[in-house]
Amino acid sequence: MGLRTPICDLLGIEVPILLAGMAGMAGPALVAAVSNAGGLGILGGHNVPPDELRRLIAETRGLTSRPFGINLLLPEDLAAPAPPEEVQDASAVQAILNPMRAEIGLAAKEGLPNPPLADILEKVEVLLESGAAVFSVGLGNPGPELVARCHAKGMRVIAMATNKEDALALEAAGVDAIVAQGGEAGGHRSHFAKPTDAGFGVVGTFVLVPEIVDAVRIPVIASGGIVDGRGVVAALTLGARAAMIGTRFLATQESGAVEVYKRALVAAASGDTTVTDVASGRYARVIRNAFTERYGDAPVLPFGWQGSAVGDLFQGARDVGDADYMGLWAGQGIGLIDDLPSAGELVARLVREAEDVLQRLTASP
Ligand SMILES: Cc1cc2nc3c(=O)[nH]c(=O)nc-3n(C[C@H](O)[C@H](O)[C@H](O)COP(=O)(O)O)c2cc1C
Repeated sequence: MGLRTPICDLLGIEVPILLAGMAGMAGPALVAAVSNAGGLGILGGHNVPPDELRRLIAETRGLTSRPFGINLLLPEDLAAPAPPEEVQDASAVQAILNPMRAEIGLAAKEGLPNPPLADILEKVEVLLESGAAVFSVGLGNPGPELVARCHAKGMRVIAMATNKEDALALEAAGVDAIVAQGGEAGGHRSHFAKPTDAGFGVVGTFVLVPEIVDAVRIPVIASGGIVDGRGVVAALTLGARAAMIGTRFLATQESGAVEVYKRALVAAASGDTTVTDVASGRYARVIRNAFTERYGDAPVLPFGWQGSAVGDLFQGARDVGDADYMGLWAGQGIGLIDDLPSAGELVARLVREAEDVLQRLTASP
């Protein structure tokens, strides 16, 4: 029994395994490795200026002739980030961050951080010119007009939802497939707008996938907590046509995670993550560390601004290899990760394991 599903034809791939377009982590080497292994590599385009995005696309194209995708985040608050006068708590935020900066030898900061990049419309134009096979959307609804522009370029659009209502809105906008993002997922919770608290709308993959499968008529891709062949088969059993995988691909040789981050992924247990807005202003699942613990419930700035405020701390921590003060985005699947294979080996392993599971399920006793 093969793993091929109808979505493979839609996306032009061999196996129903998609690399999540992780910002800063899914670069050309990882994207090409996944696409070359028969899955769909998706380039992380968030937080990348338009010219750099163009360069990354060209580099990816140089490494694979297979289809690949590009991910952008389209939250409601990104096209028009909160203006400085509404960013009131900068002094409280700097007061929380300064002692942590001191721990790793960084200078203290006062006042507003640099404004967030407001270049999403320009990046959408780069995307449309790219010739990529797939546009992958997180945190928002691209809307019918942008979907139609993508389709006119022969590009498929897949967009992520954390609940049935958002999935229906995405279907109405004309996207080709919904990514159902369960609560186990690493990185940002893909809500269109920031919910009132961290626990709101955190529905696990096991419940969310069938709920969305039953609600929409287009294919569903499961995401969140899938790290091995059992997870891939479980996703297909729940009615998904493919699996989108982030955290497991983060722990591969080609990912953009620095060594100390990769070591943390291997060392951590499934209960070591938390959903918090302290790393970016939006809720996201990260590994608990000194940064998340010391920040606690202190005020955060709006999306974009908070990421800018913590940027020097995260970069400084990366530079000195200190995982205590980095943003360690990761999902609950870390408890099942104990090695750092190449991404190509990982795709082959996922397929092999999934086929074994399927064979065992259908074998006579
Ligand atoms: C390090 C990291 C960065 C991420 N960055 C993005 C991103 O830029 N855009 C996006 O749509 N999703 C992003 N995600 C979420 C993924 O799309 C996906 O929903 C998630 O990784 C699936 O759960 P898993 O991590 O358990 O596999 C990120 C996830 C991680 C772990």
